[in-house]
Amino acid sequence: MRELVDILRDEHRLDGNGYKSLLSSGDSAVNDYLRTEARRVADAVFGSGVYLRGLVELTNVCRNDCLYCGIRRSNRNVARYTLTSEQVMDSCREGYRLGFRTFVLQGGELPSERWPWVAELVQKIKSTWPDCALTLSLGEWPKEAYAAFREAGADRYLLRHETHNAVHYAKLHPSEMSLARRLQCLSWLKELGFQVGTGIMVGSPWQTLDHLVEDIEYIERLQPEMIGIGPFIPHHDTPLKEYRAGSAELTCRIYSILRLMFPQALIPSTTALNSITPNGRIMGLQAGANVLMPNLSPSAVRNQYSLYDGKKSTAAESAEGLALLDRELAAAGFYLDWSRGDYKQRDNNYTKHKTTNL
Ligand code: 5AD
Repeated sequence: MRELVDILRDEHRLDGNGYKSLLSSGDSAVNDYLRTEARRVADAVFGSGVYLRGLVELTNVCRNDCLYCGIRRSNRNVARYTLTSEQVMDSCREGYRLGFRTFVLQGGELPSERWPWVAELVQKIKSTWPDCALTLSLGEWPKEAYAAFREAGADRYLLRHETHNAVHYAKLHPSEMSLARRLQCLSWLKELGFQVGTGIMVGSPWQTLDHLVEDIEYIERLQPEMIGIGPFIPHHDTPLKEYRAGSAELTCRIYSILRLMFPQALIPSTTALNSITPNGRIMGLQAGANVLMPNLSPSAVRNQYSLYDGKKSTAAESAEGLALLDRELAAAGFYLDWSRGDYKQRDNNYTKHKTTNL
């Protein structure tokens, strides 16, 4: 089994059975080796630096109805908000002052006629802070909307595919949504020149190891610049409230596998991971993640952006909070890297298995 880790590290891919063996390994020596090698690769590319992204939760309005998500449109118990442009600019201004050089606008899916407003907001942010990268994480839109966001200056887009198995996808989403549509959006985003992020929830209801292998193989074909993975956590106002949360250990193991597959990828240690286990943030970094996304949203709306129960705050949105985070990371041998943290092209060594067909 250690050989599988060696092959993955040296060749950046395994066959389906290889991934499945690593995903299901109960051998703690193998799991430790996987984690150590993943961290070693991350160190070789990024040192012990951790990139920071300032997260602004733009809106909890959503036209979509994903069964796992606390801000699904059928949840009547949510007090809906959309930040004003001024509030977003204020959040970014404060973030900039604190040192952030990437902002992420994340939110539910706004009514489709609002895309010109989003594009205008992107343009405002990018012209005010041209030295910053701007990432959007706002779900599915028509291609023309994505094109307008890109034209306005957005650099990156996060859209998790959630699961690459169409039957599983259909169980987690309402009938008007489809995996095909989600994958179409991801290929448009690539085509439009965004740095693209995708990903999944680990331990979502009905997920099997075979689904995870399918997810990994899709990610291999897509070659995303960013990969966002967190455990599923039930939300009390959703139809999936009775299901168990995903495992922190498996989530970290997937970070390690992905790090060995994609040495250069930007992989956050997610808030969801940190919310289900003490010290989750550091565990994620030790497994090969290299990004953290502290919350810059105005405090008044933070509790209203509730995708799952028990969301933890990073408390890094203030100077004091950042000093704390800095100390927490330093104690674990990491430091805050305040650069924009763009994806760096792979060297030739890493392109030998690049596949092109999606
Ligand atoms: N548990 C964990 N992650 C969730 N997301 C949505 N709902 C949940 C949940 N209950 C994730 C989805 C989405 C991202 C913004 O948040 O993967 O893509």
